[in-house]
Amino acid sequence: MCGIVGYVGGRDAVEILLNGLKRMEYRGYDSAGLATLRAGKLAQVKNTGKVQALADRVFREWSEEFREGMHIGIAHTRWATHGAPTDANAHPHLDKAGKIALVHNGIIENYAGLRKMLEAKGHVFLSETDSEVLAQLIGALYQGDLLQAVSAALLQVEGTFGIAVLDEAHPELLVAARRGSPLLIGLGEGESIIASDAAAVVSHTRNVIYLDDDDIAEVRAGTADIRNLHNVPVNRAVSHLDWDSGAAEKGGYEHFMLKEIFEQPDAMRNCLRGRLDDTLHTSVLTGLGLEPRDMAAIQRIVLVACGTSLHAAMVGKYFIEELAGIPVETEQAAEFRYRNPILGPHDLVLAISQSGETADTLAAVREAKCKGTLVAGMCNVVASTIARETGCGIYLHAGPEIGVASTKAFTCQVTALFLLALKLGRGRRLSRQQGAGLVATAKALPELVAATLKLNDKVAAVAETLASCRDCFYIGRGILHPVALEGALKIKEISYIHAEGYHAAELKHGPIALLEAAVPVVALAADVPGKDKMVSNIQECRARGAPVIAVVSEGDEATLTSLRPIVQAIIELPKAPLHAVPVLCVVALQLLAYHAARLRGCPIDQPRNLAKSVTVE
Ligand code: F6R
Repeated sequence: MCGIVGYVGGRDAVEILLNGLKRMEYRGYDSAGLATLRAGKLAQVKNTGKVQALADRVFREWSEEFREGMHIGIAHTRWATHGAPTDANAHPHLDKAGKIALVHNGIIENYAGLRKMLEAKGHVFLSETDSEVLAQLIGALYQGDLLQAVSAALLQVEGTFGIAVLDEAHPELLVAARRGSPLLIGLGEGESIIASDAAAVVSHTRNVIYLDDDDIAEVRAGTADIRNLHNVPVNRAVSHLDWDSGAAEKGGYEHFMLKEIFEQPDAMRNCLRGRLDDTLHTSVLTGLGLEPRDMAAIQRIVLVACGTSLHAAMVGKYFIEELAGIPVETEQAAEFRYRNPILGPHDLVLAISQSGETADTLAAVREAKCKGTLVAGMCNVVASTIARETGCGIYLHAGPEIGVASTKAFTCQVTALFLLALKLGRGRRLSRQQGAGLVATAKALPELVAATLKLNDKVAAVAETLASCRDCFYIGRGILHPVALEGALKIKEISYIHAEGYHAAELKHGPIALLEAAVPVVALAADVPGKDKMVSNIQECRARGAPVIAVVSEGDEATLTSLRPIVQAIIELPKAPLHAVPVLCVVALQLLAYHAARLRGCPIDQPRNLAKSVTVE
């Protein structure tokens, strides 16, 4: 995810900016850059690759003597969203006159229209980014007052931003602003540091001001004057950071996995941003590059993926078949190329991969392309190999996932598959009214996930039942069957408890022989078709002495009344529309796995034998 640092004060700005960027490296990025003032003129360096490569270049190209007097600057690590990771797309971006520099986190949704408007006025763009559009817009509106120009520009943009702006004409001033993208200002002795992440600030000062949405600040050495975008002063309290820098990287959470679990509402908002059409009651998936006629011609979809991404695909199959009536096959990517799959000109192969680098999924993409099929990607990492080789698809925009166990990528994959099902469905059998209902479900998802996260303490207590066991089962039916598989995968990879994910009906065809008092069963009885049968399956487990943790929907009194007397624990999910239930369910299971692993003292972010990206067959 992109990171911002800005500095104004009496010390060596370049050193502080580079250190700040290094502190944010854990977030993941693909390019980095910085801009500062030298003798009243902007100087900048930016390139793809690591912060160290940027530092090496800065120190090579700017001698100590050259760097003297550089006491103000802005810097950025970019995680590509609009445009590939290239030197030109890296931040900072400049205005047309090359006198104002900007770094930006977030997404400017109406950038295409603004860019066209500026091009008509003679602006030439050097990058493919939405951020450069904002830099040039600020320049176009600038009449000597930086704060005024930035406010005027931000009032024209739709989307999210955290920005820091530097202007040759004001060598003592940075302007910072935010909407939907975090930004804080650290106030030190005679110096100020702007950052998108407390990790970049804590080694300099613990006194910080968190900007609110639509705040804009004039930041000078040791001071910050904060207003709203209409120039009305606002009061923001100074908070005291008591994290060390390690904790700051994790946003105060004990592990990246927990941070990423809690980031899910925001990750999903980013995944949904700009993708819901309230006029046609459908979704907007421009990255697929398919016209409604191309969509209508698709007769079969093959979803290929591995691990957690395969489980998301299995949920997606339910969505697409139900909403669009198109047959969907899910395929373990490692098998795909070896079994010589039958593919036709009316098939769509969608490769789902968080990293976009998984060797088996990539091989499946190449095999499908070789067979002349339409192939698209669903990746989180922009410009990853699968994203490049498919050339079209749906980015998740979940932000980088650092914890090895995938969490927010899964929920965003399911969200994106829901959007795809909605798009395909509206092109076929869904009415406007049905479309409107599904759009409303998509919009409600982030808040429903936020409500599910409030169960954290309750789930932590329930995890004690699991933490001491050696083996356990996760069972589900219908759309919750893949969720049971995902819950079992999560707990085994981070807690090393042997867990089997099973279809609840399959249990009695063999594995039920293993059930006994020492083998708990996590049973997904939330409100989806098939839940009544789950109650019988739970009774079968209880009859063999297995303790049961049931996941149920709030307000489903019939199920709750049948289960309360017989199960050991109940996790009650917020009441939600059908298509949201698998997402809420998986969030509860992520927390369950996390707390079981924590109670067992496991190295949660880096489980043994696992890598974040599996680039071997
Ligand atoms: C489990 C997990 C893995 C990945 C799998 C595919 O938590 O993260 O099962 O889902 O290795 O990775 P991607 O999605 O990057 O292709």
